[in-house]
Amino acid sequence: MGVDKGTAKDQAARAGAELVEDGMIVGLGSGSTSALMVDCLGDRVRSLGLKITAVATSEATARQARELGIPLVELDQVQNLDISLDGADEIDGRFAMIKGLGGALLREKIVAAASRLRVTLITAAKQVEKLGAACPLPVEVSRFGLAHTERRLQGLGAVTKIRRSAEALVITDGGNCIIDCKFAEIADPAGLDQTIQGLPGVLETGLFVGLCDVLIIGEADGVRQIEADRAGRRSTD
Ligand code: 5RP
Repeated sequence: MGVDKGTAKDQAARAGAELVEDGMIVGLGSGSTSALMVDCLGDRVRSLGLKITAVATSEATARQARELGIPLVELDQVQNLDISLDGADEIDGRFAMIKGLGGALLREKIVAAASRLRVTLITAAKQVEKLGAACPLPVEVSRFGLAHTERRLQGLGAVTKIRRSAEALVITDGGNCIIDCKFAEIADPAGLDQTIQGLPGVLETGLFVGLCDVLIIGEADGVRQIEADRAGRRSTD
């Protein structure tokens, strides 16, 4: 990478990578912040001989890890992960997040759920009062019945957009589609997550509730680290 070196994003990525210890099984997130964090981990593996095993949340992250010499395993080869490190698109005061603008939400949520410690790496711009005010909620759906699932999401009040790149459908690593859903406001992230998950054709939502234990906020000259209590509230700030 290199482009973002020395920025607030890079500070968060470095601080996250420093939490990884010898012998750990590590979940590697996806997106630009995670890519910087994987770069840092690669440095530690190469120059310090750090011994880790990693599970990647996307094919792009897997490729990067392989190029850096970070040993990878499939998620099903391990029982639990010691730590996972990932970015977010938005995070509120109770540590509920929107993820998935990068399209890796399904694997990211499975990996986060299998991890003992979930670390979120952001810059201050990702912190919001209410989720969804600016960012659409990505929902991963089956390709089969795409238009039907889109209508059901519209029925919940979402303004929807099927994700496309140059007119072609964006297809996730799991072979599915993504519908970006703009809600007027997301007052109850856990409730909305459950409601959307109940729709036929929906595989996963980008609402991550109770899946952040430690938040690292990168700043120009360092980081702020905040821990969530079990209820998802901030315990220190
Ligand atoms: C990918 C994600 C990313 O973590 C999220 O989009 C943040 O990306 P970035 O670090 O590039 O801002 O959820 O599915």
